[in-house]
Amino acid sequence: MSDKNNLKVFVQTFGCQMNENDSDKILYIMEKEGFSPTNDETRADLIIINTCSVRKKPEHKAYSSIGRFKRLKEMNPELIIGAGGCLAQQEGRKFLLKIPYVDFVFGTHNIHKLPELIKASKEKERKVETEFYKEIRSLDIPGYTEKRRVTNFVTIMQGCNNYCSYCIVPYVRGREESRSSRSIINEITGLAEKGVKEVTLLGQNVNSYGLNREGELTFPELLKKISLIEELKRIRFTTSHPKDMKDELILCFKEMEKLAEHIHLPIQSGSDNILLKMGRGYTKTDYFKKVELLRRARPGIAITTDFIVGFPGETDKDFMETLDLVKKVEFDEFFSFKYSDRPGTRASFMEDKIPEHVKSERLKILQDLQKNITMKKNRAFFGKVVEVLTEGKSKKNEKQLTGRTGLNKIVNFYGEESLTGKLVKVKIEKVYSHSLKGKIFSEN
Ligand code: 5AD
Ligand code: SF4
Repeated sequence: MSDKNNLKVFVQTFGCQMNENDSDKILYIMEKEGFSPTNDETRADLIIINTCSVRKKPEHKAYSSIGRFKRLKEMNPELIIGAGGCLAQQEGRKFLLKIPYVDFVFGTHNIHKLPELIKASKEKERKVETEFYKEIRSLDIPGYTEKRRVTNFVTIMQGCNNYCSYCIVPYVRGREESRSSRSIINEITGLAEKGVKEVTLLGQNVNSYGLNREGELTFPELLKKISLIEELKRIRFTTSHPKDMKDELILCFKEMEKLAEHIHLPIQSGSDNILLKMGRGYTKTDYFKKVELLRRARPGIAITTDFIVGFPGETDKDFMETLDLVKKVEFDEFFSFKYSDRPGTRASFMEDKIPEHVKSERLKILQDLQKNITMKKNRAFFGKVVEVLTEGKSKKNEKQLTGRTGLNKIVNFYGEESLTGKLVKVKIEKVYSHSLKGKIFSEN
């Protein structure tokens, strides 16, 4: 155990950007309790594993990863281990029963309970806090900022009311709850004062922002207010449900210069038949229309998406329609997943489950198709000058700097570290599938 004034916390994060942000909130709270972050789990006094349950794979990962903490606990019985996040929410007390060396479990609305849970653990009481609240206190907890000095996440709402038939999120994150715009603006103003230049606003369905709070701003109104924060240079957001994306939001891409020219708009399938079974509330024609409007509002906008392949009952014809849609839309990139049964969801009770090998085949075909499209899109940047927000030294090659364009393309280039946090113009000289490489053209 480290000395009392120098306690260390190790947080391991699985899942989405909201989980990343929750881990930053955890670090913020623990810093107030006298813990500083460490990347070395063997030196930690407190280990927190922040889990995801969106598919079977991250669930497995969390369980197998936690296994390695057993030995640490045996070597140091004072070590406290807590499990939080979506899988912890889903499992509750079962988590404690399955993993005897875990001291406490906390759910997605219970980050603020950490000091209490740690206190109980010290008294050898194993507690579980997975209650949902109408007012989610953890929404107002700011994130620990030392790790993300240029670009940061800010959660503006959490939960989902859509209940897509495959999705666990409404069960593990609860109903849509928005954070007050006052609290959001305060946090972002503070971040901008510390030098943060870009924020990504997070929510499972940002288009519903404000709807559950009387008199609150709408999402486009919130964006406009945030864009008035002078030191802030770029605003991003995720995730936007196609069904709820209104014309006012599309207009923001035309009118708000600070809104980065990228939108993540998950479609899930290119077949109307499957979209209906998924309960998505739009057809592929509706989706096309939104894409067109977005491209008209901001020519060149990057559009990324998510796909699920092998949803129950997905025929070859349905899958061909997905391939056809990919060719037509030409996404900049996408994430694609094999359908995974989630406990209690409507889809998990559906018949005609697709065999694993068919799902794997379809996933490969889909990803191969996109590889060519992404490369074609990236090649178009060759010789062009792009504006990059410099995030700092590249992790892969310390001699290089790394950053992103408004379109969210990763760009690596040589330059002084003092350019961190600056928008620089870079001329692209090499093109890869997931990044671009270039030379500084001008430093403003
Ligand atoms: N199986 C496979 N993929 C899923 N996703 C959500 N639930 C499931 C599931 N049960 C994917 C969707 C979503 C992304 C975050 O994860 O594509 O947009
Ligand atoms: Fe995973 Fe969804 Fe929870 Fe994010 S909100 S951690 S994707 S289950």
